[in-house]
Amino acid sequence: MSHSFVSSPIKSFAGDLIVPGDKSISHRSLFLTSLGQGKAKISNFLSGEDCQATARAFQAMGVDITFESPTEVIVNGKGKYALKKPAEVLDMGNSGTTTRLLMGVLAGQDFSAELKGDASLSSRPMKRVVEPLTQMGASFSGPTNGAQLPLQVNGGALNGMTHPLKVASAQVKSSLLLAGLYADGLTTVIEPNQSRDHTERMLKYLGVHVETEDLSYTIDSDQEPKNKDIFVPGDISSAAFFLVAAAAFPNSSLLIKDVGLNPTRMAIIEVLRKMGAQITVLLEPKSEKFEPYGDVEVFGHPLIGTEISGAMIPYLIDEIPVLAVAAALADGETVIRDAAELRVKESDRIKAVVTSLQKLGVQVEELEDGMVIQGQPRLKGGETFESYGDHRIAMSMAIAGLFCDKPITIKNADCIQTSFPSFEEKLKLLVTYE
Ligand code: S3P
Repeated sequence: MSHSFVSSPIKSFAGDLIVPGDKSISHRSLFLTSLGQGKAKISNFLSGEDCQATARAFQAMGVDITFESPTEVIVNGKGKYALKKPAEVLDMGNSGTTTRLLMGVLAGQDFSAELKGDASLSSRPMKRVVEPLTQMGASFSGPTNGAQLPLQVNGGALNGMTHPLKVASAQVKSSLLLAGLYADGLTTVIEPNQSRDHTERMLKYLGVHVETEDLSYTIDSDQEPKNKDIFVPGDISSAAFFLVAAAAFPNSSLLIKDVGLNPTRMAIIEVLRKMGAQITVLLEPKSEKFEPYGDVEVFGHPLIGTEISGAMIPYLIDEIPVLAVAAALADGETVIRDAAELRVKESDRIKAVVTSLQKLGVQVEELEDGMVIQGQPRLKGGETFESYGDHRIAMSMAIAGLFCDKPITIKNADCIQTSFPSFEEKLKLLVTYE
């Protein structure tokens, strides 16, 4: 039985915080060093369930991955041609990133492999990677012919080609760049808007050249990563829950240390500032070349409504549920548009957020690609909420509970383990309850 989380109204929010390692960077640290040559020590690795799925998949394909502690990992890479056919079906759990990036790697192998996932992952769209990988020469089989998990990837000889993408997706871009490491000639991906660039940064850090021009990325297959140590900064998407709580709570103060400050992930800070939050960012200079990180300080200040739309959306796609909570507490109206991708995340996040905010007494209008939220000073508590099996919905509701007139209960909160196992503990250290 998944546990329930009770979130209660608070009277103060203050303190220092370190959030666990970035989920996207943790996944990529295993993907790239598993395909690379030599030893790499990964530190501050995220020990959540999603990244464990990536570790297990590469271990099952014969890669030497050892956990010295839950957050310290040693990978002894034998190069991109060293993977072996897994003996069993690879279990992706809840992790879309593991699945889509792995499909790109598997497309280039001379064996086939089967992938399965939990109920949420098995309902998510895979055609966005299956179609371009099929054009390159891989084939996919299974009950839905590769449209959804479970499926089988039949790797083979790939041809390099140019892929104009319909949606800005770092998962799709990364999957195709990884397939490009095995393709004959050049593989180019062109995005409609920029998505997070962790794959390109880490490839470069490990000596693999990616030619970048505007929103076009080209990789030549004649290369493989040269492994070296990787430090994973804190996850700004995990920090986002605390950033919102501090920004919205009067007289709060919060210092988050060593958190990732990659420009393609920073829009949460930009939007909160536009809403009136007082936020100071201090970049660690030595981090600039690979993945920037530093400290972020927030002081509570009354928030005002805003518009969140356009090219900024991919930069804060995972933060929209908690930004919706900030909007519910802001003075005036907030419009969120161009975010239809939210409907195919770990849950339909538009429906989940709209339903939950309505239950909190907030006036919200659902749009096909977003929502319109009317802010109010305090939220109505006393109710029980669904997590929808989605870690970010569960944590967003936990933050909403701090601003309610009575405690709220969030059911099926175990899903928080996928990205932030220590969330409840960290929250308790920062608050005093009414
Ligand atoms: C991720 C990219 C995003 C994000 C997901 C992690 C990644 O998905 O929502 O949580 O690590 O590449 P899309 O790229 O599909 O938008």
